[in-house]
Amino acid sequence: MAGRLHDPLDFSRRADGSPERRATRTRAPALRTMASDGRKVVLITGCSSGIGLRIAAMLARDEKKRYHVVATMRDLKRKEKLLEAVGDAHGDTLALRVLDVCSEESVRQCVGGLEDRRVDVLINNAGIGLLGPVESISIEEMKKVFETNFFGVVRMIKEVMPDMKRRRSGHIIVMSSVMGLQGVVFNDVYTASKFAMEGFCESLAVQLLKFNVKLSMIEPGPVHTEFEVKIMQDVAKMEFPGADADTVRYFKDVYLPSSIHMFEAMGQSADDIAKCTKKVIEASRPRFRNLTNTLYTPIVAMKYADETGGLSIHTFYNLLFNFGTLMHITVSILKCLTCRCFRRRNISPD
Ligand SMILES: NC(=O)c1ccc[n+]([C@@H]2O[C@H](COP(=O)([O-])OP(=O)(O)OC[C@H]3O[C@@H](n4cnc5c(N)ncnc54)[C@H](OP(=O)(O)O)[C@@H]3O)[C@@H](O)[C@H]2O)c1
Repeated sequence: MAGRLHDPLDFSRRADGSPERRATRTRAPALRTMASDGRKVVLITGCSSGIGLRIAAMLARDEKKRYHVVATMRDLKRKEKLLEAVGDAHGDTLALRVLDVCSEESVRQCVGGLEDRRVDVLINNAGIGLLGPVESISIEEMKKVFETNFFGVVRMIKEVMPDMKRRRSGHIIVMSSVMGLQGVVFNDVYTASKFAMEGFCESLAVQLLKFNVKLSMIEPGPVHTEFEVKIMQDVAKMEFPGADADTVRYFKDVYLPSSIHMFEAMGQSADDIAKCTKKVIEASRPRFRNLTNTLYTPIVAMKYADETGGLSIHTFYNLLFNFGTLMHITVSILKCLTCRCFRRRNISPD
């Protein structure tokens, strides 16, 4: 059937290239994506859960069947939730592939296995978090975050971009964060990895424009996914070696409760972010920056209102340490402030 993807289970490969399933197949045939049928080939990283899963399912279930989704994950044993969300679209508009963004070999194998290596839209979604006082985090742990959130994206772009440039078409999407634009206390390393990504892409976007290749950042605030759960599990296990008692107290008794409150009050769903991402893909002139949550527009605006950085740093300091009890009121005020003019500056899911 034209435009139909092969059953991905037939030729899935682990990151090391060994067969995932049928031992009789020795070579993975190129994934037939039939780009010539007018459908866009969309490769997404990190589809085993959360935002990546919801984007993959939403695009695969597109009513007009405009997309061939290559949903990737580093371990195909985690595919069940995605397959459940995709339903009967699996095998028609969606194929599964193994891809670990931390392995060059895995990236090369995955992209090399696509027909003509064609990727029309690359969605760099895979990412990990890290929270806590800097003193208690090892350099190795920090490198792991950069290896995934920064070099993982760079690896993907390096593999896909030359073909897009040659074809003079393509769209690269990066799942950044509000924390790629505004630093947040005790999120120092995660924030740094997203800032690095923003700087990298802001530079690259200018060159890519010359080749008619688009680059867009999606910048969500808090989103209810496994991300939040994994971070809280890590925090529960933390022993904070090297951090003084005051810092640990500020982290556990001041930062964590206010962070949980922010998630509850301002959190979006993974579906909200998938809707925003779909809008960016389908826009005739997609924006470079795309905040998904109107509640964060004033926070980011504050940063640009005072280029010395003083306004943001002192506002966050006061909110956290001096007016902790006013935090709830502040969130309510922010909700009121999300008027039309802020909406225009966002890519709202609605
Ligand atoms: N949740 C939020 O509050 C929030 C806010 C702003 C931005 N973001 C960003 O949104 C993106 C998706 O996060 P999420 O909230 O959907 O979290 P999630 O549910 O934890 O999903 C993260 C995905 O990334 C995958 N991944 C991690 N390391 C990988 C690697 N080396 N290679 C390939 N895949 C890898 C995970 O796969 P495994 O199952 O194998 O671990 C998982 O599928 C991240 O880039 C995150 O920084 C999240």
